[in-house]
Amino acid sequence: MDESRQMFAQLLAEGLYKIKLREDKPLTLIQDQLGYAIGRDTGGSALTHWRRGNIPASHTDLENLAREMVRRGNLERSWVEQLFAQTEYPAETICAALFPDGETTAVPPQTIHPLPGKDYRQLIGRDPLLKQISDILAALDPPHMVSIDGQGGIGKTALSLDAAHRCQQRGLFASVIWLSVTRPSGPLLQADTSFTLETILDAIGAQSEGEAFADVSLAEKKQLAQAYLARHRVLLVLDNLETAVQPQDEILAQLQPLLGQSKVLATSRHRFRHDTYAIHLTGLENDGAAHFIQQYGQGNGFHHIQMATDGEVDEIIWATGGSPLAMQLVVSQSRHLPLPVVLKNLRAVTPLSQINNEGEYVKFYKFVFHHSWALLNNESKNLLVTMAQFDTANGAPFEAIQHISELEFGILVSCLEILWDSSLLEVRPIAGISQIRYYLHPLTQNFVLSDIVNVL
Ligand SMILES: Nc1ncnc2c1ncn2[C@@H]1O[C@H](COP(=O)(O)OP(=O)(O)O)[C@@H](O)[C@H]1O
Ligand SMILES: [Mg+2]
Repeated sequence: MDESRQMFAQLLAEGLYKIKLREDKPLTLIQDQLGYAIGRDTGGSALTHWRRGNIPASHTDLENLAREMVRRGNLERSWVEQLFAQTEYPAETICAALFPDGETTAVPPQTIHPLPGKDYRQLIGRDPLLKQISDILAALDPPHMVSIDGQGGIGKTALSLDAAHRCQQRGLFASVIWLSVTRPSGPLLQADTSFTLETILDAIGAQSEGEAFADVSLAEKKQLAQAYLARHRVLLVLDNLETAVQPQDEILAQLQPLLGQSKVLATSRHRFRHDTYAIHLTGLENDGAAHFIQQYGQGNGFHHIQMATDGEVDEIIWATGGSPLAMQLVVSQSRHLPLPVVLKNLRAVTPLSQINNEGEYVKFYKFVFHHSWALLNNESKNLLVTMAQFDTANGAPFEAIQHISELEFGILVSCLEILWDSSLLEVRPIAGISQIRYYLHPLTQNFVLSDIVNVL
């Protein structure tokens, strides 16, 4: 093979590997996608041919290929120039189209903002979800919004943080902006008044140097943000949206039309009604949960946990339903109390059993459930108490709940909806979708049956 053909093959391979690095997809898939994108019915076979050092027979083919590869791999002008230099085709037209104003890259370089620190060594048991989220965020196509909902302490922030880091490392966005609603700590249900669509727009404004966002109306901020997002692909992470003063669905609905090719990753204890790619997060399972318990113990110097038998580990997982926050509580409490006592406290927590009335368990349950519980109407609270009579492993079908709750059909449907919305009720299809069962997370059951509900 002569030298320029060899060089051509090498440059093509380099470009393909850059795309692979950004998108984490198999090379064969990338080659197929590129083949289809430039109008080949046979997918990647053209790419395979060219990678052997065969120069495309048509100028247009090569231009289209370069355009796709530059877009997906964020490849530089010099790569395009070198690639074309190995052929008889001129590079001027395609370079002028891809890199206007003499820029060297098609996508603006990434602005790195510090993301919140991780308090865990390695994210455990969430690989399939992490991949799912990363793929959606990496794609230029819709969906543009991904939401993660679930109980407090179940791992929403940790999962989002890993996804955000992954996107930043791969340079998928011009910038990754992390915004978090402050969690209320007082006894009252305070919403974070500083978190609204406007503060989100201001955060986008802070990115756009020289584009003044200060002292303009909300409508103008929307226009400016939209114009900025049309030119920069940004990942906006909105954490803890349930405590924002503006309803979470309203925030997303107003953001949606401004996004362009930017993406949103939102977390909340409440499910989103607005159209998003919705992930309902539940506890870690079996091996993942066991690994989590060991990692947490080692990371904090709680060496006693290495002595735990498989049976004891299973008991922790069972009692906590795999909730990471609950498993942390059990592991740290079992430093000074026998496991059965710790689990008994977790199962039958009562404010009076605590010496100072605000023991670790009470604090834990308040943290996890206070917000959702306080927003329920009385009928939904009563229904939740009724639901707690069922075994958490099996739950109950609609008819059984209707029978023992004695609620009128319409009211029952609306209560189920309210409980489901606030992540207090889990749902599992049985056969097809005509039969589903409702059940409670073990922690929800403990909470509902405890005396804490009476003092909140
Ligand atoms: N998959 C995981 N691997 C390792 N640590 C995790 C995982 N999920 C959650 N954690 C840890 O458990 C705790 C609670 O998780 P967090 O993400 O804060 O829950 P949430 O945001 O749902 O309230 C945090 O300390 C977090 O770092
Ligand atoms: Mg969180």
